[in-house]
Amino acid sequence: MPTLAVIGSQWGDEGKGKITDYLAEDADLVVRFQGGANAGHTIKVGNEVFALHLLPSGIIRDGVLSVIGNGLVIDLEELRSELEMLHKTGRTAEMLRISDRANVVLPYHRTLDGAEERARGAKGVGTTGRGIGPCYADKVARAGIRMGDLLDEVYLWERLDTVYPQKERLVQSFGMKMEQEKASLLRTLLEYGNLFRPYITDTSVLINDAIRDGKRVMFEGAQGTMLDIDYGTYPYVTSSNCTAGAICTGAGVPPSAVQDVIGVTKAYTTRVGAGPFVTELHDAVGLHLQNVGGEFGTTTGRPRRCGWLDMVVVRHAVRLNGMTSIAMTKLDVLSDLPAVKVCVAYDIDGQIVDTYPGSLAMLAKAKPIYEEMEGWTSASCKASDIMRKGYAALPKNMRKYLDFITTNAGVPIDIISFGKGRDETIDLRKRRWRI
Ligand code: GDP
Ligand code: IMO
Ligand code: MG
Repeated sequence: MPTLAVIGSQWGDEGKGKITDYLAEDADLVVRFQGGANAGHTIKVGNEVFALHLLPSGIIRDGVLSVIGNGLVIDLEELRSELEMLHKTGRTAEMLRISDRANVVLPYHRTLDGAEERARGAKGVGTTGRGIGPCYADKVARAGIRMGDLLDEVYLWERLDTVYPQKERLVQSFGMKMEQEKASLLRTLLEYGNLFRPYITDTSVLINDAIRDGKRVMFEGAQGTMLDIDYGTYPYVTSSNCTAGAICTGAGVPPSAVQDVIGVTKAYTTRVGAGPFVTELHDAVGLHLQNVGGEFGTTTGRPRRCGWLDMVVVRHAVRLNGMTSIAMTKLDVLSDLPAVKVCVAYDIDGQIVDTYPGSLAMLAKAKPIYEEMEGWTSASCKASDIMRKGYAALPKNMRKYLDFITTNAGVPIDIISFGKGRDETIDLRKRRWRI
């Protein structure tokens, strides 16, 4: 049963897209299981750069079946434009499958996302504005529309009859209007139903069949552990579970189907939007990370907040996801700093705390306890040498940094990444797939 999950260890944007695309070389299926178009996964292959929001990162690889699982919330317009982008690059969506049970993001979800964010004022979450929270809220409230519903006009009309008036009252309570009349919304949804009909199916059956037949199945996470609705920095989180547990419910597979879990971990920390961030830097080093790392959001273009690597966060992620190894990205960005720091624990009111607190009040008082190490120069870290000679060609101080992280996290580093490109990656795995 060769399956592999790729999960973000931090607040998203760790480089999951790049690592998933890299690993998909050996995969038969790549499955997204949660999130929506709030995700932005960047993949660079040669001179081509892809920014994917809904399509699984396997879509760039020939012969890989790309599955949008039931745990996603699908923005139909966004999906259409991503498919158009794919066609423009000469690729087809022949290998795409979409779950009939995935919920649909409707225009009023975006309206409500904006209205709720404004109502929160200074306490805003800083959402991506893609309607994610209101759509998941409707799913749980049993007021959602699902992809399969778009294929059945009679049922869809019944659903809208039930749901639309409730949503209209809510939108009006914010002093706003619905952007589409019910009948016009029905027509739009039916058109999308026709467009996506060839791809909509019971994806859980095909994923389980693939696993049974010994196919290599990857599960691609969106967002990251610290944005998880239960275990992230609530309420400054997204509205889905982003941890490995969500694979079961979001793809429709049993717990036994998740074998290896690679935690994609940036060599430092970033976050977009509001909320606690103990190792955040407001100095020249923070600016270095932002500029050299190009830390501007793939989805919204917002600057990302930057800080040192936080092992309290990484250990939280290793524990919650059962991570079996780490893929460490953006090591190149730390080059040329005289020293690098890693947070190993927090000081909260004089107490040493080494697990991530659930309380925002405690986090507000947390001071990072750092381990400081000597840095390395970009001159000592030539990508071409490293690609040729592997781990041994890494600068001594970088190896010390990596060894420290391995020991502290308690899991090996399997992959290291030195740049955006697919080829700027060193693979330290002993076996490529566990079969
Ligand atoms: P994701 O949401 O986790 O897939 O990550 P994003 O794609 O939103 O953000 C990661 C950014 O870092 C993208 O622009 C990637 O092209 C880039 N990136 C990934 N790995 C590396 C790396 O090792 N070095 C550098 N310099 N950039 C990287
Ligand atoms: P990828 O998959 C980084 C953040 C938003 C906001 C919070 C809630 O590219 O790593 P939402 O729109 O989901 O209700 O916003 O979550 N957020 C992300 N931050 N990367 C992402 O996805 C994110 N998806 C949501 O900035 O703070
Ligand atoms: Mg991203």
